Amino acid sequence: MIVGVPKEIKNNESRVGMTPAGVFELVKNNHTVYVQSGAGEGSGFFNHDYQRAGATILDTIGQVYAMSDMIVKVKEPIAEEYALIQKGQIVFTYFHFASSEALTKAMIESKSICIAYETVEDEDGTLPLLTPMSEVAGRMAIQQGAKYLEKPVKGRGVLLGGVPGVAPGRVLVLGAGVVGIQAAKMAAGLGAHVTILDVNMKRLRHVNDIMPPHVVTEFSNEFNIRKHIKTHDLIIGGVLLKGAKAPNLITKDMLKDMRPGTVIVDVAVDQGGCVETTRPTTHENPTYIVDDVVHYCVANMPGAVPYTSTVALTNVTLPYVLKLANTGWRTACKLDKSLGKGLNIVEGDIVYKEIAKAFQWEPVLA
Ligand SMILES: NC(=O)c1ccc[n+]([C@@H]2O[C@H](COP(=O)([O-])OP(=O)(O)OC[C@H]3O[C@@H](n4cnc5c(N)ncnc54)[C@H](O)[C@@H]3O)[C@@H](O)[C@H]2O)c1
Repeated sequence: MIVGVPKEIKNNESRVGMTPAGVFELVKNNHTVYVQSGAGEGSGFFNHDYQRAGATILDTIGQVYAMSDMIVKVKEPIAEEYALIQKGQIVFTYFHFASSEALTKAMIESKSICIAYETVEDEDGTLPLLTPMSEVAGRMAIQQGAKYLEKPVKGRGVLLGGVPGVAPGRVLVLGAGVVGIQAAKMAAGLGAHVTILDVNMKRLRHVNDIMPPHVVTEFSNEFNIRKHIKTHDLIIGGVLLKGAKAPNLITKDMLKDMRPGTVIVDVAVDQGGCVETTRPTTHENPTYIVDDVVHYCVANMPGAVPYTSTVALTNVTLPYVLKLANTGWRTACKLDKSLGKGLNIVEGDIVYKEIAKAFQWEPVLA
């Protein structure tokens, strides 16, 4: 198969769909890989790295789309890319169709095979191609939170780890899922005291089993949240209700109970946030202050660490890329049920019913 890796052209996107290691594996399996010149630069992978791994560098994005059977990328195609996608071409990337009717219509018209990272689903309901980005965001939440606790950026002036003779900072983590556990682990590693809340007892039992004793679990309810926000320096929002807006666990009236300079990192901002005063921010301008509380609400946190994010993402996408290339999409999706769930639009038909539901269209099930 001929596999194409275009450069991402969405604003501020530095990740790339394949690393030189991926190229190496594909070439070893007798496939051809075309990489657009400069595609990996934002993530620290240069043309010569790809060439050494066996790829051919093409100058333009148009050439990559025109010459490839399968396109492997990161973000959903943007308007400039719609016309480049070929009939029958496999496009393997994040699509998030339900949030864009224009993209959905364009991909239907393209008659391509759209396999969406975000709907590839394991038997236990987990989403293996979303997990690494939550891991990055969860770990990064503590790094950012620690920074914004510093006084010059309006934080409380607390060092999370404390020092001998001074108690460590206190971190409250809402949600013990992927983001929450990674955040708790990083905070605990710095020596902070961590309280982690969830409504799922299985998650709390798991955290209790694997974390050191200065990570304390409690059930998530309004009483406990109101109690803890008064004494914690950094609050991490990592809750998720699948397919729904995040619940507002911290309402505006609660901000006045927090100490000035408390920092909230609301990772769940991409689902509306779990804090009433959350609004999406960017890496250029990541924070704002409401009632003396610092809010960090960047909706694409992994974008700030493209090297780590690219490698983390491609580690989990590559096995699927290899299956698609080795056997073709029909066989690969038949044999691997998780991958099959990634099929969203096939040759003009929506096969993932939630997309049709989002726009109140009739689904055509394969
Ligand atoms: N901002 C970013 O850049 C970024 C990056 C990655 C993920 N995210 C987002 O982070 C959020 C969390 O993702 P995840 O992968 O950790 O999800 P997850 O499903 O692994 O974990 C969510 C947890 O929230 C818990 N929860 C639900 N209701 C709760 C409540 N009322 N109180 C406390 N806990 C509750 C669930 O039981 C679950 O354990 C999602 O919205 C995800 O989209 C954001």
